[in-house]
Amino acid sequence: MENKKIENAKFGAEAFKDYKMKLPGLFPRIMGPNAMKYLQEVVESGLTSNMMSRFETAFAKEYGVKHCIATPGCTPALHMLAAAFGFEPGDEIIVSPITDYGTIQGLVCENYIPVFADTDENSINMSAATIEKCITPRTRAILVVHKTGLICDMDPILELAKKNNLVVYEDVCQAVFGKYKGRYAGTMGLAAGFSFDGEKTMGSDTGGCIITNDDELANRARYMGQSRGAKTLPGFGRIHDALGYAYRMPMGTAAITLAQLEIIKPHVEKIDLMARYLSSLIDQIDGVHSLHIPEYIDVYSCWMFGFTIDLEKFNCTLEDFAAQLAKEGIGDAGAGKYYLMPEALTFLQRKAANKIYPYSKPTASYDYTYGAGTCPNAKAFLNKFIRWSSFNERYEKEHCELAASMIEAVAARNRKRND
Ligand SMILES: Cc1ncc(COP(=O)(O)O)c(C=O)c1O
Repeated sequence: MENKKIENAKFGAEAFKDYKMKLPGLFPRIMGPNAMKYLQEVVESGLTSNMMSRFETAFAKEYGVKHCIATPGCTPALHMLAAAFGFEPGDEIIVSPITDYGTIQGLVCENYIPVFADTDENSINMSAATIEKCITPRTRAILVVHKTGLICDMDPILELAKKNNLVVYEDVCQAVFGKYKGRYAGTMGLAAGFSFDGEKTMGSDTGGCIITNDDELANRARYMGQSRGAKTLPGFGRIHDALGYAYRMPMGTAAITLAQLEIIKPHVEKIDLMARYLSSLIDQIDGVHSLHIPEYIDVYSCWMFGFTIDLEKFNCTLEDFAAQLAKEGIGDAGAGKYYLMPEALTFLQRKAANKIYPYSKPTASYDYTYGAGTCPNAKAFLNKFIRWSSFNERYEKEHCELAASMIEAVAARNRKRND
């Protein structure tokens, strides 16, 4: 066996620093002009600034919702929501199989059972049809992920959920200010989680938030996720009445995030334009396909540009194609096979296989198996999917043309000949 060095995963600018780019890189990020002013306010206030609530108010206003709760990231935001829902251990949450670990962590920590619905054929997202097959009497919620900014077809999902009395909530990490039929992604379910991690479209060091219009859920999320499940009892002090968490966004992060919010909208507009332009260019390359942008998406807030290839048309593997593209000058181009959560979460596979709580019966309602085979459409999609996450607001038409020409060069070099 090849002796490959296994390293811990890297994040943020550190993960990008060795890539050779002929296209505008993601880092250093464009910072909102007020970032330093707001940071200074935090410092000069001697940490008495209200920066966190200023960010929360501004974000809620942009989204037209009642509540925004700032967190240190989306992983904690979604964990906070999972805890606030207060479902029972062993209850099932249907969730997208192609996503980031951050979507899943809170579910596992709360002893819920993530049930991965398959994606639609040839799609990166799940749909009402694939979700419906997973509904059991133990299903409590559907957690949708708008992967690469492609918003799931929400209306049929919302209808299905209503029929089955299920909560719908959204992971909007990759679709900030994306719009579906005139509605912002993140405003269609009961609540949503966002990421302002340095690599994301609204990159801000780390950071995240939840939004919701539901007063009770917002109160419960703050209690469970920020007050550590504690109440103040007169004559005693804090009593911890629930297993809560301390997921508060730091004031310095709030300062940067507020400044980033002030510049995000034109960036998203630009990303939408350029992602559509680049998609139209690569669709002209034989054997290469852009991701389908459904007509219902008004604003494609694309984070991570991806495409698929017809492997049978090329003499190379997916990984070779991606590696050659990286050498051409899209340094962070790579295959995205690891996004298949039922395959990547090996700790969960072991837990389920060994029937460790909550996979014991009870608590679980049936025998769970996680693996690539459980979501064949998702697996087949990722087997032909290449992406780069440095696609960003600095791209102009000429960069899209350069990116398409690099893909064309790799395709031409590896294309099978008919003679
Ligand atoms: C779809 C999705 N969900 C969740 C997360 C986790 O977000 P954070 O890094 O802010 O915790 C990410 C980040 O990569 C993501 O892309």
